[in-house]
Amino acid sequence: MTYQIALTFEDGVTRFIEGRDGETVADSSYRSRINIPLDCRDGVCGTCKSFCESGEFELGEYVPDEAMTEEEEAAGYVLTCQLFPKSDLVINIPVTSDIAKAGASTHAGEIITIDHVSETSTYFGIRLDNRGALGFLPGQYVNIVVPGTDQTRSYSFSSGPQADEVGFLLRNTPTGALPTYLRERAKPGDRLEFTGPMGSFYLREVKRPLLFLAGGTGLAPFLSMLEKIGDTGADQPVHLIYGVTNDADLVKVDELEQYAKQLSNFTFTCCVADEGASYPNKGYVTRYIEPEHVNGGDVDVYLCGPPPMVDAVRKWLEGQGIAPLNFYFEKFSGTGLVTETGSIHLKAADVDEAFDARMALELGAAQLTVGRLSGDQIAEYRRLEEAAAQFVGDGRFTDPAGFRQANAAFHLFPIAATGNATMIDTYKRLQVQEYMAQALTPSTELAADIAQDHRDMVDAVARGDIEAARVAIVAHTEHAKATMRAGIEEQSGSAG
Ligand code: FES
Repeated sequence: MTYQIALTFEDGVTRFIEGRDGETVADSSYRSRINIPLDCRDGVCGTCKSFCESGEFELGEYVPDEAMTEEEEAAGYVLTCQLFPKSDLVINIPVTSDIAKAGASTHAGEIITIDHVSETSTYFGIRLDNRGALGFLPGQYVNIVVPGTDQTRSYSFSSGPQADEVGFLLRNTPTGALPTYLRERAKPGDRLEFTGPMGSFYLREVKRPLLFLAGGTGLAPFLSMLEKIGDTGADQPVHLIYGVTNDADLVKVDELEQYAKQLSNFTFTCCVADEGASYPNKGYVTRYIEPEHVNGGDVDVYLCGPPPMVDAVRKWLEGQGIAPLNFYFEKFSGTGLVTETGSIHLKAADVDEAFDARMALELGAAQLTVGRLSGDQIAEYRRLEEAAAQFVGDGRFTDPAGFRQANAAFHLFPIAATGNATMIDTYKRLQVQEYMAQALTPSTELAADIAQDHRDMVDAVARGDIEAARVAIVAHTEHAKATMRAGIEEQSGSAG
């Protein structure tokens, strides 16, 4: 049995390798000449710790707390040297592709289809020389070399990951390099080359309803995602709202109708911004977002369109008080250059709620454990505090990911010390870790000395002073929430 394993690197490059039953992902990578971080290969050192975004697997043995904590495992971290795939996997490798010697690969083939689907949009398809060598996640893009030039332009696949012909949909702008080539010079049989796949705008595991918002030829990645959903199936409702500027921009609607027939969980709405359009639905996509599409916020929103559309949708959601659990977006310019890929998942109120819930658990844990912990337990608590402190320096996190992991272990400790399975389980379900991963960066300013907060908590517990422990827990929660708000604001500023 073999599996397709997508290794996504920090610089947006994705490489696919073949995984085999009984073979670790580390060994599969090595076989594919990709140097993912490794040291002991034995589940001891933690060098190979990565994050598994989707898929089924088994983990071999590892040394708890040394290589990885149980907390981290519960949060989705894996050790690639102990990771045996049981399905296709998507794994985030925490280094750049350069370091892993896994730069984006180059693929070449010949154009077999050029279809000017409307006066403003063109589809073209390529038959690759080696289709088997190209793997991609639906939603990703490649950098296409414009024939006869040294220029490249970025376009998302409109075809699914399994389709023989790889297809792209682009806006037929008068001056765009690739549109001009396709309009004026291209003919079937021409050679074309691209590098990739790239980008973090790709379909994640479908765990909740999906709302797709496409602007113009930003429809392309969604066609690819729908093909994938058509292949694998999904139980969750998927709704697409496809907005364009003028009637002529509305293309591929017949394909959407096919998907609506084929997939019982898929529905879509089209709209044309031009109020003078002949298409009956006029206005912007936000006009057509219904409450059931956002499912009270328990929804993953994917948005691909020009920058003003991305910004307008974000503002609209905020104005409506809707905070999608995950919000992935890709902004592109009319020339086909991907300008920005990102994700926003947070609303301050949700974050506050999670941190308050953690505080309630910690106050409860203090009530049950202060004055009852052994010397060894207090020493362990202090060790965890010190482990987290090493990632804090000069008012910022020196390594937010490192802090996050160490911090999770630190906060779990007193709750785990209660031995109360319900409390431990509740703590593990909190989305504190996930929220921190989304909000905190090395430039986030800390609202207070977080490391000192932690020390105050441990000191109070060591003294058996429950009142001081309570004060320290409450103060730390306020500082943590304020720091998270700073991170969220920073993200919304930079993402706009
Ligand atoms: S390489 Fe050491 S734990 Fe995997």
